[in-house]
Amino acid sequence: MRKIDDVSVIDDAFMVQDAPSARHEPRYDVLVLDARARQSLVTVRSLGMRGYKVAALETFDGVPAFSSRWCQQKFVSPTDEGTEEYLTYLERVLDTCGAHVLITASDGTIELLRQYRERLERRVSIALAQEPGLDIAVDKEQTLAIARKLGLLIPRGMSVRDVSEVATAVQEIGLPAVVKPVESWIAGQQQGRRVACQLVTTLAEASRAVEELTYGGGSVLFQQFLTGRREALSFFYANGEIYARFAQWAKHTDPPLGGTSVLRQSIAIPQDVGELAENLIRAINLEGYSEVEFRRDSAGTPYLMEINPRLSASVEIAVRAGVDFPLLLYQWAKGEPIDKVEGYRTGLWMRYLWGDISATAASLRERARPGVIPPWQAIFDFCRFFFVPVKYDYLDWHDLSPIWAALVGRGRGGLKRLQDALLGRGRV
Ligand SMILES: Nc1ncnc2c1ncn2[C@@H]1O[C@H](COP(=O)(O)OP(=O)(O)O)[C@@H](O)[C@H]1O
Ligand SMILES: [Mg+2]
Repeated sequence: MRKIDDVSVIDDAFMVQDAPSARHEPRYDVLVLDARARQSLVTVRSLGMRGYKVAALETFDGVPAFSSRWCQQKFVSPTDEGTEEYLTYLERVLDTCGAHVLITASDGTIELLRQYRERLERRVSIALAQEPGLDIAVDKEQTLAIARKLGLLIPRGMSVRDVSEVATAVQEIGLPAVVKPVESWIAGQQQGRRVACQLVTTLAEASRAVEELTYGGGSVLFQQFLTGRREALSFFYANGEIYARFAQWAKHTDPPLGGTSVLRQSIAIPQDVGELAENLIRAINLEGYSEVEFRRDSAGTPYLMEINPRLSASVEIAVRAGVDFPLLLYQWAKGEPIDKVEGYRTGLWMRYLWGDISATAASLRERARPGVIPPWQAIFDFCRFFFVPVKYDYLDWHDLSPIWAALVGRGRGGLKRLQDALLGRGRV
C-alpha cells in the first residue's frame, strides 16, 4: 500500500498542488469528506483495507484519518466547508485526482452537496439519499409529522416562533423541557453553523434558549423532557430493500444532553420500534445509510427524536459488530451489487475515551441538572469501564498512526484536550 505523506493544498488561484495528475496516476475509488470526523476514519479504514484507493479531504491538517495507512492522498481545503470557495476546491480536487464516489459525514457538507448536487454529480457519484427524502430527514418537524401518521410515538411538544410564545409553551409542556432547532444546520451568508438542543429548567432559561435558536428566523421545537435510554437504529435501504440493520444504545453522551455517543453498546433491534422505524425509512424513501434516533421515557416507552441521513459518529461499533455500512454506501453509490447483512454481534461495548472523559467531567459540573447522573455514579462508571471488555474509537492495532494523531493533533494535544474536557471548554 502506497502512502503519500504530502499535504495537497491549493493556492489563491485554487490550483491543486502536488496532487497526482489524472493522466499519470490511477483515479481514486472514493473521496471521503469531513476527514476530521470519527466516522470518516472508519470509512477510510473500512474501504482502504478492502483494497479501494481512498483519498480524504478536510479544512485543516493533522486529522487522524489523514495518517491512516489506508489514506492514499490527503487534501486540505483553505476554506471552511459550506462556502463557495470550498465547492471550487472540491471541484478542482475531483477534476485533478478523480474519485468515483463521494462520502460525507457532516450536516454542513450535506447542505452544500444538496445545493450543488447536479453540478457535482457530473463529476462524481454522491453517496447520499435523493430529495425529497433527504429534505424530510433533515427537518425534524416534517419527520415527526410523517412518523406520527405511521404510528410512532413522538415527544409531546409544540412549535415556537419567538420569545413571546415561551410562556404558553411552558404552560402546555411543562418544565424541564427541551428546546430544539428544527434543523441542526443553519445556513449562513458566508458559513453555516451546527446548532444543538438545550435543556431548560426555568422560564428564563427557556426564553434565552428560544431567543438564541430563533435568532435569524425560523421556529424551534419545545418538547417534553424524556429521561430514559437513548437508542439508535441504523439501516441501509436501497431499491425498496433493507440490506442491513443495526441497533445500539448510548450509555454516555457528550454533552449529557444532545451530545454524541461516547460509550455505547450494540443491541438486538428493539422489538417495539424496529418495524416502525423501517416503515418510516420506506415511507420517505430514504435510500443509503440512515440512523433513526429514539429516546425512552422513564417507563421505557420509546419516542422518536430524529433521523440522520449520514454516517453517524458512532458508526464504528456497527462495523466492528459486523455491519460494514461504509462498504454498503460505496457499493450502492458505485452501482455495484450491495451485500446483504443478516446479523451482527450484540453486547459489544465501544468507548470514545476523550469524549467519555469530557462527558464524565460534564456530569460532575452539571450534577444539579435534571437527567444528569450523580457524581459518584459518573466516576464509578468511568473507572468501571476500564475493567469491562471495551473497544476504543481510533484504536486499531494494525493502523496506529491515527490514534497518535488524535492525541497530538493540531495544537490540541492530549494534555490540552484533557484540560478542555475537564473545564468544559468545547468538545473533545
Ligand atoms: N425531548 C427530549 N428529551 C430528552 N432528550 C432529548 C430530547 N430531545 C433530544 N434529546 C436528546 O438529545 C439528542 C439530540 O437530539 P436530536 O433530536 O437527535 O437533535 P440533534 O442530534 O439534531 O441535535 C437525542 O438523541 C436525545 O438523546
Ligand atoms: Mg441527533
